[in-house]
Amino acid sequence: MPDWEKHYADIAVGDQTVASVLTENEHLLEWQGLALDYACGLAANGRWLAARGYEVIAWDMSRNAVEKLNQYSREKNIRLTAEVRDLENNPPTDEKFDVIVVSFFLHRQTLLNLYQALKPGGLLFYQTFLGEQKNGRGPSNSDFRLTQGELLRVYSDMENLFYREDEDQALFVGKK
Ligand SMILES: C[S@@+](CC[C@H](N)C(=O)[O-])C[C@H]1O[C@@H](n2cnc3c(N)ncnc32)[C@H](O)[C@@H]1O
Repeated sequence: MPDWEKHYADIAVGDQTVASVLTENEHLLEWQGLALDYACGLAANGRWLAARGYEVIAWDMSRNAVEKLNQYSREKNIRLTAEVRDLENNPPTDEKFDVIVVSFFLHRQTLLNLYQALKPGGLLFYQTFLGEQKNGRGPSNSDFRLTQGELLRVYSDMENLFYREDEDQALFVGKK
């Protein structure tokens, strides 16, 4: 597991890549409501959603990432609030988000909390590594990599709006 605190100590909030599951499915957004960037890192996804009319909450366990994000939000006057939160031990339960985005984070035991945290009609955008590690990309531990079709099975109660498995990633959009 990388030392995320150290990682974020050394980099600035900037042009981190927005997950393609979001950019490829921008047409599904309603451009208003409350969005959650889950295990946000420096919240490229959350900042992209804030620029599209959402009020954004961004959670990550890294204090450095959260402090940098909140300073950035104040300076740029964007509607994004970051909070330190351990999502393995303290996943969301309240049905309150219109959009949840997760990229490159997986904790199987709490996947259904994401479904629970969406309002009826809310959208889940999920993208992360799939299958065996290839060319050193992503984690090698299978606990942190999806299996084929896993998100479709876990979120079978959702309406599936988009699903693709690339060489080593799965991209999913579901509607509650
Ligand atoms: C690979 S990064 C992805 C960050 C961001 N979603 C992105 O796509 O750029 C994984 C993130 O998960 C966070 N993380 C790992 N375990 C966590 C936990 N138990 N609770 C909250 N965040 C966690 C790390 O701090 C890190 O920011």
